[in-house]
Amino acid sequence: MPKRIIPVSSGKGGVGKTTVATNLALSLSRYAPTLLVDLDTGTSSVRNTIGVPVERDLYHFFRKKRRLDDCVTSLPASWDPDGLYSGFGFVAAPLHLIEEITNFGADKKLELSAAINELPAEFVILDMKAGLDSNVVDFLPWSNSGILVFTPHLPSATLAASDIVKAILFRKLRIVFSPSSPFYAQVKDPRTTMLLVNDLLDEVEDVYEPALPNLDAFLVDLAGSLGPHPVLEQVARTVEHFRVHYVLNAFNGIDEAFDTAVKPFVENLVSTVSERMTLTNLGWVVKSDEIHQGNCRRRPVLLAPRDGHSAPHPTRGEKALDALIRETTGLTVELRKPKPVLPVPHRPDPESALARELDALNRMYHRKGDRDDPRDNFEYLSARTVHLLDRCRPSEFGTPRLCGPAEILRSFFPAVATPRPS
Ligand SMILES: Nc1ncnc2c1ncn2[C@@H]1O[C@H](COP(=O)(O)OP(=O)(O)OP(=O)(O)O)[C@@H](O)[C@H]1O
Ligand SMILES: [Mg+2]
Repeated sequence: MPKRIIPVSSGKGGVGKTTVATNLALSLSRYAPTLLVDLDTGTSSVRNTIGVPVERDLYHFFRKKRRLDDCVTSLPASWDPDGLYSGFGFVAAPLHLIEEITNFGADKKLELSAAINELPAEFVILDMKAGLDSNVVDFLPWSNSGILVFTPHLPSATLAASDIVKAILFRKLRIVFSPSSPFYAQVKDPRTTMLLVNDLLDEVEDVYEPALPNLDAFLVDLAGSLGPHPVLEQVARTVEHFRVHYVLNAFNGIDEAFDTAVKPFVENLVSTVSERMTLTNLGWVVKSDEIHQGNCRRRPVLLAPRDGHSAPHPTRGEKALDALIRETTGLTVELRKPKPVLPVPHRPDPESALARELDALNRMYHRKGDRDDPRDNFEYLSARTVHLLDRCRPSEFGTPRLCGPAEILRSFFPAVATPRPS
């Protein structure tokens, strides 16, 4: 399996990106070496969540010219006495606000992306800032959404999450149709075509402009103006093959999650982006005092010493949970009877990820009437992630490399030497 870089973003702030990114990275490190990189460079959220001493951080990478892998912090033995998370490490953001690191310019972004691409880990999780600006979007894969987090508790975050999908696709299209793109060497009237395409893109991107509501309409219009063209087919495929993976955080039952999160998310994607994309629910994380207290104590829930009690949490009825599981996973397997929780082996084999995914699902399912345990949620999320990564092409989930504009152009026009886009 090639290395996969998986950004965790949400558009909106405070929905649980850092919580999901941190505990997912810890969970994944049980399968293979995993690094968590804090790209929320203004608030240094990861080091606020994992309170271990940090010797070097992104400051040392940018200012002291240390290699990025020299800026990795591992867990001290006292935090991980059984060595369960020995494959985990994180790169912290600077402790203080340093303008050029908080808002990196184009050069710094390229420098950091190149270093992330070289990190010695099988999984790299990026904890992103809130927002939709280029500090976020330029670090996202261009063929899928990475992991989007949203929550039924903050309906506006749902729309922001679907806006990220739009922003990724538009970033790519703007590069493919930028003035220096080789595309124009293949059309009869390059200048007119360039103006036409970019006007149409402006119209789709402008949500107040009703004429071209989404990319599906854009493609129809463009085909009408240009006739059949191989690049248009490629753009259509880009939209069709785009994969969206999401996690519901602070999940509190299927009805609430469906009405206030999943449904508006899908509706917004269809109306403003396209109806052709494939959406995958990766899992959910219950609302849990244990999670919140772990964050406040700067010791993530997965690293907290077990006291044998989960925080009380109301559970919904069997029917509702069953429906959720079937709806979000597409699984039609007969769920087995509960069995005692087996200790997680020291290094689960990635091959066993599907079995572990089903096991975690089974445990979550049979905890009805008992108490939900967020550890099960992260076990499920990581096993499902490993299983899907193993099954999906690198372009479908995560990315082996963060690509700059030149690489994106090259992937569209492989035969042409591409100049740097303006
Ligand atoms: N599942 C959960 N159950 C209970 N509390 C949670 C859960 N997920 C997150 N929280 C709490 O919600 C708050 C925001 O979480 P977190 O910092 O992970 O969000 P974020 O999206 O990374 O925020 P920001 O945009 O500021 O980076 C924190 O106080 C955290 O402890
Ligand atoms: Mg955060």
